[in-house]
Amino acid sequence: MLLKKLLILNQNYSKSLPKHVAIIMDGNGRWANRRGEERIFGHQAGLRTIRRVVSFSLFYKFKILTLYAFSSENWKRPLLEIMVLMELFFFSLHSEVNNLNKKNICLKVIGDTTKFSSSLRKQIKIVEKLTVNNDGLILNIAANYGGKWDIVEAIKKIVKRVKNCYLSIDNITEYTVSKNLSTKHCIPIDLVIRTGGEFRLSNFCIWQIAYSELYFTNVLWPDFNRSVFEKAIFSFINRKRRFGSID
Ligand code: IPE
Ligand code: IPE
Ligand code: MG
Repeated sequence: MLLKKLLILNQNYSKSLPKHVAIIMDGNGRWANRRGEERIFGHQAGLRTIRRVVSFSLFYKFKILTLYAFSSENWKRPLLEIMVLMELFFFSLHSEVNNLNKKNICLKVIGDTTKFSSSLRKQIKIVEKLTVNNDGLILNIAANYGGKWDIVEAIKKIVKRVKNCYLSIDNITEYTVSKNLSTKHCIPIDLVIRTGGEFRLSNFCIWQIAYSELYFTNVLWPDFNRSVFEKAIFSFINRKRRFGSID
C-alpha cells in the first residue's frame, strides 16, 4: 500500500515499475520443518502465497508474472514429495480456472510437460485453452523447467529450420534464439526475486535473465507477503539500469 501511495505521488516511479516479474519460490520445506511438520505442509502453504502474489501482480498491473514451481532437477527428490507436488499442481489448475478467468489472467505452463502424467498434461491444456484470450496478466508457471533444457530445445528447433532451408545460418541472431525459447510470448524479465536465502539461480531462465535485476531475500516462500514484495519492487525502481551504457 505504501508503495502504491508513493507511485501516485510520483508518476516517474510508476513508469519504472517492472513489467515482467519472475520469482524463484524457495523455502517451503524449511518453513515446514521449522514447524516440526513434513515438507509437504510447506508446499501447501506455498500455494496460498501464490494466490497472494497473483493478486498483488494484478494490483500493480504487471504484464507478466513467471513463477518457478518445479525444476528439471527436482525429480531427484523423494517420490512421495514429487507426487504431492504433482497433485497440488493438478488440483490447483482444476480449482483455479474460474478464478483465472474472472481475473482476466492467461495461464501458460513453460517447461517439459512430456514428463507429466497424461491427466496433468490434459489439465494443463484445458486451462491454457480456457484462459488464452485473457489479457490482464500472463501467469507463466515454470514446471519441469530448466534453463539449459530451454536452450537445448531452442537449438533443436533452429537446427531443424536450417536443415529444412527455412533459415540461413547467417540470419541466426539473439532474436532467433529468444523466439525459440519457451518464453517466446514474453517481454524481457525485468526483475527476478528469489526467496529462501540462497544466492543462486538453480537453472532458471538463464538466457532470459542475462540483464534482469536480481533480488534475494531470506524470507521463506510461505512467509512471502505484500510488504516483502514491495521491498523488492522498491529496490528495483531505485536501481539504475544501464545495459552496458553510461549514465
Ligand atoms: C521450493 O521450496 C519449492 C520447490 C522447489 C518445489 P523447497 O521445497 O526447495 O524448500 P527448501 O528449499 O527445501 O526449504
Ligand atoms: C529452485 O529451488 C527450484 C524452484 C524453486 C522450483 P531448489 O530448492 O530446487 O534449488 P536448489 O536445489 O537449492 O538449487
Ligand atoms: Mg529449495
